[in-house]
Amino acid sequence: MALPPNFLDELRARTPLAPLIGRATRLTRSGRNWKGCCPFHNEKSPSFYVYDDHFHCFGCGAHGDAISFVMQREGAAFMEAIERLSAEAGLEVPKPSPEAARREARARDMHGVLAAAEAAFTRRLHTPEGRPALDYLRRRGLSDETIARFGLGWSGEGRGALAAELREQGIEPGQLLEAGLMQERERGLVDLFFNRVMFPIRDRRGRTISFGGRILGDGQPKYVNGPESPVFSKRRSLYGLDLAREGVFRGARLVVAEGYMDVIALHQAGFTGAVAPLGTALTQEQIEALWAVSPEPVLCLDGDAAGARAMARAAEVALPLLTPERSLRFATLPQGEDPDSLVARGAAPMEAVLGAARGLADALFDMLREGRALTGPEERAAFRKRLVDAAGTIADKGLGSEYRRAWLDRFFPLGRRGPAPAPRSAARPVPGAATRPAQARALLATLLHHPWLLADLDEALAMLDLPDGHAMQFRDAPLELPAGLEGEALREHLRGPALDWVLGARALPEGARPDAQPAEAEACFWHFFARLRGDAELHADLAQAQQEASANPTADNVRRVALLKEAADAHRRGEVGAEG
Ligand code: UTP
Ligand code: MN
Repeated sequence: MALPPNFLDELRARTPLAPLIGRATRLTRSGRNWKGCCPFHNEKSPSFYVYDDHFHCFGCGAHGDAISFVMQREGAAFMEAIERLSAEAGLEVPKPSPEAARREARARDMHGVLAAAEAAFTRRLHTPEGRPALDYLRRRGLSDETIARFGLGWSGEGRGALAAELREQGIEPGQLLEAGLMQERERGLVDLFFNRVMFPIRDRRGRTISFGGRILGDGQPKYVNGPESPVFSKRRSLYGLDLAREGVFRGARLVVAEGYMDVIALHQAGFTGAVAPLGTALTQEQIEALWAVSPEPVLCLDGDAAGARAMARAAEVALPLLTPERSLRFATLPQGEDPDSLVARGAAPMEAVLGAARGLADALFDMLREGRALTGPEERAAFRKRLVDAAGTIADKGLGSEYRRAWLDRFFPLGRRGPAPAPRSAARPVPGAATRPAQARALLATLLHHPWLLADLDEALAMLDLPDGHAMQFRDAPLELPAGLEGEALREHLRGPALDWVLGARALPEGARPDAQPAEAEACFWHFFARLRGDAELHADLAQAQQEASANPTADNVRRVALLKEAADAHRRGEVGAEG
């Protein structure tokens, strides 16, 4: 029965395996996967495992996906199983069409054609005409076992030899054209690959879907890759993914390198979770495919400008898709090295590179900073905007606000000018501001009546963890405020329940009142900031400020230390209201 291939993919994607199989046998967590007693044979201790997209019994060898589970478990025919699962997944089974039938037959044929071509290429590598290629691969350090595992071969010299050989197996040149092994020229069909070492490109299940061909030694183009075809989509494929899935299952890290040779050298050196895109930047589809194997793949980047660009692009693609369960890490290679050259010196240098990989949030912060000193207000504002904008692209809202907070926490102390020292009188505890919501309200009222403070203090504001609800809403509003808005215009702009809540405070501390002196207002802000910030954070702020002041003892930095110290001391003396 012919169904469009993407329908079955869709059906499998919409049918999580664990709940389906969990109806037949009790499953428990086993790392990222599930295990239980096999529903297909009698057993007392579990040897049946359920993965993302398939199940496997190490006892009786039962194996398959959601569709074959229903077929095996219930003795259903293929189409029956499809109908049942589709109904549960809320999908309509498409009517089979002659066109779909033809497409299916063609795809099936194409895998056969590609497999036959691969066999021809590997056979040739071990004949006299392939000898220079075999020597080349061995000179590059590949063992015969590695050469066999990756199915490396020799194209031959071209001039139709492949077509002639495969015709004996009933494969027509037209099929080689469709499979991307020949191309159309005025003089007819000609070989796409000749005088090249052949690298089969395989899908995640290990079926060959195309080839890359490398010239022997120097010359251009270095690699020729097969064109898009019904079975090969460059943006969806990752070189080495079939082997890396197994490697990761056995405990290897999922590592993304740049090239074919890097992947092969990494596997040979024991880094069996290595993959590579096919000469282009990572696409969204490739990142999704990586996440299906591991929650935090490590991207291996060159230590130069090109590596930085590659990271920027990958981060841009990945950010909107991040969730608390899936992210990326970035490892930087030493200048002038690639994984292939590194592992030539043993596993240790590569281990060190991977071990030093940084998380996405960390790496992106530095990237968005663009290596600037952040001295002027324009630079600071621009950097902060880049951070807030980038965090805003994360579709998972909870995660996005964590990114924003973590970044602003880090941004805030950078090269920042300290506030004026607080007059002691203004730091007096204020009646009616003993609970956390009341403290938040006093702090926000201070800002409302003295909005000029925001120019310097909104970063401090952004890192405060305020009680949820009105306070948080109000905290976030100033970040979007047009500059220079004051008084009635400002209140108009912020109108809403959160504003009413702030204005509704019965007793305002002196520094929060509209007629307070600027120094009083600023001191008042810091007073409540210290109380809301919490002891641990305050001490971390202080430690960071001290470090900065000793490296760069400007008057501002020293003043800032004094101020934070006073706030922390006040905190310790217990001038903090009991929290309600
Ligand atoms: P590299 O030049 O780093 O290739 O290009 P490599 O795999 O390390 O190969 P060696 O070590 O020189 O033999 C990285 C990837 O870019 C693509 C290929 O996928 C290659 O693996 N590429 C490169 C092309 O598609 N065409 C080219 O001409 C060059
Ligand atoms: Mn290389």
